[in-house]
Amino acid sequence: MHETARNDAERATDAGLALRPLAAADAPVRLADAYAYPPDGPWLRANMIASVDGAAARDGRAGGLGNETDRRLLSLLRGLCDVLIVGAGTVRVEGYGPVRPRPGEWEELRGDRPPVPPLAIVSRSLDLDLDAPVFTDAHPRARTIVLTTRTAPPDRVRAAAERADVIVAGEDGVDFAAAVAELTARGHRRLLCEGGPQVLAQVVAAGLLDELCLTVSPMLVSGGAVRLLDGPALPVPPRLRLAAAYQDDEDFLFLRYVRKR
Ligand SMILES: NC(=O)c1ccc[n+]([C@@H]2O[C@H](COP(=O)([O-])OP(=O)(O)OC[C@H]3O[C@@H](n4cnc5c(N)ncnc54)[C@H](OP(=O)(O)O)[C@@H]3O)[C@@H](O)[C@H]2O)c1
Repeated sequence: MHETARNDAERATDAGLALRPLAAADAPVRLADAYAYPPDGPWLRANMIASVDGAAARDGRAGGLGNETDRRLLSLLRGLCDVLIVGAGTVRVEGYGPVRPRPGEWEELRGDRPPVPPLAIVSRSLDLDLDAPVFTDAHPRARTIVLTTRTAPPDRVRAAAERADVIVAGEDGVDFAAAVAELTARGHRRLLCEGGPQVLAQVVAAGLLDELCLTVSPMLVSGGAVRLLDGPALPVPPRLRLAAAYQDDEDFLFLRYVRKR
């Protein structure tokens, strides 16, 4: 993956309209450095993919939009984070398992942290397969976390507590500010959210998103696919600043946006 090349036209200026090509890199970037979390934290980053026409899924799955580079970046971002927040819808559709250690790849990234980040699954119904590997095969130092609500079915809460660390935050729906505060209090200051669109919309609405890593997949999908955020229109859309842009040899774009404060 390399930083986006300078266009043929260095700068197009026409009737007061100035278009700037993305800056070319002087030297190859080390992606683990380029994507390092800010040192202070807490910092909540989302990693999502969309087609050029804005679809967040193809045939109902995000995986249908990606390529090998995107999968490798997804893996790197997991290696960098302390906890991976994901909605139950995505866990069910994409068949999430626990994050697996990457011997020879992640030791330097993880330092003295557990070898993998735990998943923190957001669910109100707790309609989750508690016998699935995402619960039964989680690394002992990265037990899966369930983020749920006070009105979740009590028998499901009890069953989930046998297989996972349950955090109750919010009455009828998870209060994301409270959930993130609790994760942070447990030492998870480098947070990664992999969606899905319902969860991401609420994270953004709560003002919690610091950074969006967006892969633009060079496809036109059409149909009624969900967008990156699936929630009510935001009265004051947060503004983002483009912090970095990379491309690979297959015309995928890898954009890092940070929230303008
Ligand atoms: N393009 C991408 O990068 C990307 C990333 C992820 C997913 N996707 C795609 O998005 C689709 C799934 O998206 P989605 O929006 O339906 O799923 P989602 O956001 O992953 O999960 C929705 C579920 O999360 C739980 N939830 C959400 N808000 C909650 C709250 N406030 N309190 C308690 N629980 C809450 C509910 O689970 P319960 O029903 O268990 O209560 C809800 O059904 C799939 O097609 C997937 O492939 C795309």
